[in-house]
Order: sequence, then C-alpha cells, then structure tokens
Amino acid sequence: MSASDVKRRIDELTEELTRAEHAYYVLDAPIMSDAQYDVLMRELQALEEAHPELRSPSSPTQRVGGAPAEKFEKVVRKLPMLSLANVFSDEEFRDFDERVRKQLGVDEVTWVCEHKFDGLAVELIYESGRFVRGATRGDGTVGEDVTANLRTVRNIPLQLAAPEGGEVPRYLEVRGEVFIQKSDFAKLNQQREEAGEPPFVNPRNSAAGSLRQLDPRLTAARPLSFFAYEIGQQEGLTFETHSQKLELLEQLRLPVNPDHVVARGFDQVKAVYVDFLARRHELPYEVDGMVVKVDSEDFRRRLGQVSKTPRWAVAWKFPPVEEETRVENIEVQVGRTGALTPVAHLAPVKVGGVTVTRATLHNEDELRRKDVRIGDWVFVRRAGDVIPEIVKVIETRRTGQERVFEFPTTCPVCNAPVARGEGEVVLRCTGKSCPAKGQANLRHFASRPAMDIDGMGEKLAAQLVSMGLVKTYADIYRLTLDQLLTVERLGEKSAQNLLEAIERSKHTTLRRFLYALGIRHVGEATAKALAEHFRDVRRLFTATVDELTRVKDVGPEMAQEIHDWFHNEANQRLVEDLLALGVDPKPPEEVQGGVFTGKTVVLTGTLSQMTREAAKEEIERRGGKVSGSVSRKTDLVVAGEDAGSKLKKAQELGVKVVDEPAFLAMLQQG
Ligand code: IVH
Repeated sequence: MSASDVKRRIDELTEELTRAEHAYYVLDAPIMSDAQYDVLMRELQALEEAHPELRSPSSPTQRVGGAPAEKFEKVVRKLPMLSLANVFSDEEFRDFDERVRKQLGVDEVTWVCEHKFDGLAVELIYESGRFVRGATRGDGTVGEDVTANLRTVRNIPLQLAAPEGGEVPRYLEVRGEVFIQKSDFAKLNQQREEAGEPPFVNPRNSAAGSLRQLDPRLTAARPLSFFAYEIGQQEGLTFETHSQKLELLEQLRLPVNPDHVVARGFDQVKAVYVDFLARRHELPYEVDGMVVKVDSEDFRRRLGQVSKTPRWAVAWKFPPVEEETRVENIEVQVGRTGALTPVAHLAPVKVGGVTVTRATLHNEDELRRKDVRIGDWVFVRRAGDVIPEIVKVIETRRTGQERVFEFPTTCPVCNAPVARGEGEVVLRCTGKSCPAKGQANLRHFASRPAMDIDGMGEKLAAQLVSMGLVKTYADIYRLTLDQLLTVERLGEKSAQNLLEAIERSKHTTLRRFLYALGIRHVGEATAKALAEHFRDVRRLFTATVDELTRVKDVGPEMAQEIHDWFHNEANQRLVEDLLALGVDPKPPEEVQGGVFTGKTVVLTGTLSQMTREAAKEEIERRGGKVSGSVSRKTDLVVAGEDAGSKLKKAQELGVKVVDEPAFLAMLQQG
C-alpha cells in the first residue's frame, strides 16, 4: 500500500469504529457485532504499528490508557465552570421562578428540566472536532488536566461529527458529568471485595476516584460514562435556546441524556419534578435532584450570574432517601485509632437503589440518644456521600422483645480495657498491640491516597499483622519473598507483585507520607498543608505548637495532637527507620521560574473566579509570596471588585496594579 492509501484506510477505519462506538455506547443501538468491531480494531492497530507517524491521539486505539503521570497539570479557564444554587421545596422554586420573571419582565418562563447527575463535572475541549483536552471542574476556575483519563471513557467521542447542515466547530468546550451507572457500580464493588479492597461508598465517589487516577490504565478499567449538558466557549455553532444546544451536542455525536423536558411556568416544572422524583430509583444512574434551566440563551445573558452561580438555573434537590428495616444485631468495630464504633447489622433493604445491610451508630452517646435496640424497626437514610445511618427508631413497632445493647468495657478484639479520652465521646481500646489497630493502620498506610501499595488488601494486612510479620510500618519495607511465601494462599507471583508495589511506594510525596502515618485528625487536606509548610518531615520533630497553629486549617487542638505525635520518641524512630529503609517523601513542587518568583503580591477586593485562598496558592506555586498589606516592597497588587484602601495606597506608592483578567492571564503563563 502506498503511504496515501494507508492514510486513507486509517481514516476509513477510524470513521467506522467511531460510528460503531457511538451506536453502541451513545445510541444503545449497535450497528456491528463485537467480532466485526474487533477485526476492524485489529486492522487499525496493525496499520498504526507499521506507521506510527500516522497514529493520532484521538484514534479509537488510544482508549486503553497511556503512560502514568506524575501529577495532574492545573488548567486555568477564562470562563469559570459555575455551580448551582439549591432549592428544596415548592415555595423555594416558586420564589426562584418569580425572581427570574421579575428580572426579565415576563409573565412566564420556558424552562428545561434535566436530571441532576450525581457524578463529577468536567469540561472537554474539541479543536476542529478532535478531543484535545479535558479537565475536572476543580474550584470552577482552576481544574486538573485529566485528558488521558477522559480518553478512556467509552462514550466520550474522540472525534466529533458535523451537525446537520453545518460544519464541525473550530473550537468547542463541552461541559458535562462523568459518572458510573448503578449496575456498573455494583459490579465494580463486587470485584473490589473479591480482591480484598474496600468497596466504594457510592457511585459518585467511585467516579471521582476513577477519574483522578494518575495511571490512565486504571481509569480505563473502570466503567465510566459521560453526559454532556452545557457548552462553554465555542466558535462555529449557533443556537438560540438550550434545547437547540442539546440537539446540536447530540448531532455532534456527544452523549446527551434524552430524558429532559421543556416546561412552561411553575405548574409544568412541578409536574416534571414529581415525575422525576417518582422515577429516580428506576433510572440507571444516580440523581440527587432536578436541574431547571432557562431555555432562552438571550434571557440567560440578561440574567447573568452572581459570584459563581448563574441566575438562570437552579438545582431542585430531592429529599434524602429513607427506608424502614429491622436491626438484627449491633456489633462494635475497632478502627485504626482504636476507636470503638457501634455498627447496626440490618435486614437487607434497598435505599435509593443500593442494598444496605449496615449502618453506623457513630459512638456510644449516639446509640443511647437514639436508643436503638437489637430487634428495633428503624428508618435508615443515605444522603449524599455519607455511609448509611439510622435516622430514628419506629417506636410504635416495638414489641417488648427488643434488647438493649450493652457497650463492651473491653476491646472485642484484644480484650484490653476501653477508655474515654478526656473531653471525648469516643471510647478507645487501650491495648498497646491490639491487632485490630495494627491491621486497620496497615490498611490505611498502604491505601491508595496514602502510600498506595497495590495488593495490600484487608485480608493480607490482617494476615501480616497476625503472623507478626509486620509490627510497625517500617517492617513492610523489611519483608522478604521467603517471608511472604509463608503467608497462606499467597502465590509466588502475587508475592513478587507485592514486593514490587512496596518498592514503588518508596517514591512518594511528603503529603502522602504524612497522611499515611495515621496521625489522629490528619486527613489528606491537613497532610497537604503540613507538607507545603514544612517541606521536610524532620522539621516536624522540632515544630512548636505555635508554629503548627499557623498552618492552614490547623486549630490549637489539632496542633497539640500533631506536636505530641512528632515529639514521641517511638514515632521519631519510626520515621527515621522508614527514611533509612529508602522511603523518600518528596516535598511539593514549586514551579521553577514561575511568573511570581521572588515577587511579593497583595490581593485586595473580591475576585469573581477564585477564592482568595486559591489565588494565594496559585501565586505561591509560581514562586511568589502573598502579603496582607501594601508597602514600597510590594511588587504587585491584584485588585478585584470593590478594592478599597489598599488599591489607593498602591496607586499612591506607584506599585503596579492588575485587575482580575490580567491576573488570570499571568497565571496562564505558568
Ligand atoms: S449545569 C451553571 N446540568 O451540578 C451550570 N449541572 O452545582 C452548572 N450537575 O457542578 C452545570 N447534573 O456537577 C448542570 N444536568 C445538569 C447537571 C449538573 C449534575 C452538577 C454539576 C455541577 C453541579 C452544580
């Protein structure tokens, strides 16, 4: 074949495979068999292998996931992705409708009602029809570049089709939601449990977690879906209403949920709400409400936005789902920090489409307050991303046969006495070497957001602890193949893989490392703040409570806790051991030669597109320092809306002042 023939064949195959994927994943109406699809795919792969220069990143062969990334690049957008205000009742929506009518000076508004998908908002960028970049919403203005991961989402087209009677837009920002279908979620969790990995709490968490994998191959293995519902900036499309916009998106081959309704005035919108609410559990995806949007694009422009929410749309939320079931038993679980948590075992019940068999009772006080007894009928609720909880006991259904649960005075795992810390509601196991603590700690240490040791599942962690092979975290890095081969049901291959995963985990970040240590109250966000502030773990050995309090979001109590942890000799030894064994936590990156290197910047007034905190972080990442007051030493003042005395002072001193758009442009320079 001549080079141009190869090129032509590649284009043909790309088009055919793209159409097949669209038919299968978007229209749900396949146009070829799986076998046919495979044949074409293999032909394309072979041609691309022979002519790598003709392989495009938007080729259907590229969905398998490329090489893992070190971190996600930040994406700063000019037009922020907005979030929605919520309403919870008829009255609140009526008020909203009225405000909109008043502002527009009309008697009735035409609305489009859509489901509010419970996933993760993303933006896809297409240039001349090619998918070139995709990012998470982040804080609206600054998101994370997850292009490689989005490419693996099967119903996201890598190449757009021309709309009827028009051309493929030169530039297009598509906004929508990445989510996991309920059935895929159930399958995914089943696989995880079989692999000894903790199940995801809900589809939203699993979608978010999957999209934020640094290794796109992991994302590719997750069953993610996408729905498009808005357009950001664009060149080359014209539409006057939101309905037309959705129609266009569909013609471009983007997946648009067909289940949306145009409704006029309050009564019709209310009727759609009632219908959506009644059907919510039958939908194949999770929803937490209905989004109501003004149809007319002209009206939208006139309505505008307040800070980060549009005046032309609102989320009409659904009430949380509650169901009735019976408490079959109450048990106490011992967590990583030794905390004893009472857990109710429930007769299985479907709550919002998910079967619930357990609910947390948080702690002894909560258990007493709600007076939950074994045998009680109760209401259970799942709201947002929380673990199911018992709302209240249905007292009218008591028979007298219910049993009050006696809270144990000794740890159910190691029998050591339990005690309540000063001023605490939680009871904790006092056992120094309680296996429950060890095992739960180890799971935490190895978990994905911590040291990310693949293969260290719940079962294995339990075995390593109970066999005495791992007593401290440092022991993980002393494990040998011979030792691992003595673990029941752990084959040589898995043992090898585990050792490799352990080795890989040594190259970590300070933030993960600090989180992994399992210091009480130190979650991912605090770990990040500590890493940014201290940059070296040994610096924490000498940090005072006072200094710790100055770290973002660290209160006095937490500061004391962190201080005590790092001043404890055994803990210091643990950290030193880990470092000596090769664990190498890297401090957060500072952008080298960033636009603000060596500059002192003052922020004043209100920024519309990011919080002041976010702006500060962005400046610091680019090498700058943010100060609270303007002086001759100030290099730059960023003046948002309603800037006052600081702006005046800057002008008096002749300090350079920029407005928000100019500031955003500077951020984009890196
Ligand atoms: S429109 C201003 N449409 O809800 C326009 N959003 O708080 C905002 N969401 O971050 C986007 N379903 O993640 C829109 N049909 C839908 C949606 C939807 C879910 C989410 C989205 C956004 C959040 C707004």
